Amino acid sequence: MLRGDKVGLRARYDDDIPILRTELFDDVVNASRSEAGPWRPITPGSKDPRLVVEDGKDQRSVSFSAVELEGGTLIGSATLWGIDTHNRSAHIGLGLLPAARGKGYGTDVVAVLCHYGFTVLGFQRLQIETLADNTAMLRAAERNGFVREGVLRSSAWVMGEFLDEVLLGLLVQEWKTAPKP
Ligand SMILES: CC(C)(COP(=O)(O)OP(=O)(O)OC[C@H]1O[C@@H](n2cnc3c(N)ncnc32)[C@H](O)[C@@H]1OP(=O)(O)O)[C@@H](O)C(=O)NCCC(=O)NCCS
Repeated sequence: MLRGDKVGLRARYDDDIPILRTELFDDVVNASRSEAGPWRPITPGSKDPRLVVEDGKDQRSVSFSAVELEGGTLIGSATLWGIDTHNRSAHIGLGLLPAARGKGYGTDVVAVLCHYGFTVLGFQRLQIETLADNTAMLRAAERNGFVREGVLRSSAWVMGEFLDEVLLGLLVQEWKTAPKP
């Protein structure tokens, strides 16, 4: 397990799946705001890759379940996706269960994913895209040293309207010298 100050990132367990499906992916607004494509229901027992991790099947992403370090309670899902081994870069994605938000866990999950991407995998660059009104995600990224690199105007169709996305990046040399959140 990867450890931060407050959270751990471990493999996906079978018991995590119904909780993540019910609390994250069945929430149409949350899923529409967090994912690139249109919301669609996940059938219980299906092998949807958002929930079920099949080791070694997708070399372009690594998915974790996020847990509280103290007690091990499941708090959400975290992913390095779009892994590009030539350019040594990847994207970060995360979603916390509603009860786990606003407690500093998201900031710590980003910190642990940075450690994994830069130290374990040896990447040069990590990237985050988020809706321009997602203050919590923007702050969790910036607290870890991510820099706003641009606004993708009207790039996301979300629940009946086009919204702007912010693109943030962090380079390994910046991460090494950035103050820890
Ligand atoms: C976005 C998310 C991962 C952030 O994690 P979190 O644990 O809630 O955030 P933290 O508690 O670490 O807070 C990070 C910062 O955002 C601020 N913040 C937290 N919730 C906030 C809210 N609802 N509104 C405004 N600011 C908020 C905190 O005060 C903190 O700011 P600071 O660094 O200036 O003190 C989490 O809220 C979440 O999973 N949301 C739903 C899914 C989602 O949006 N995923 C991201 C898709 S790109």
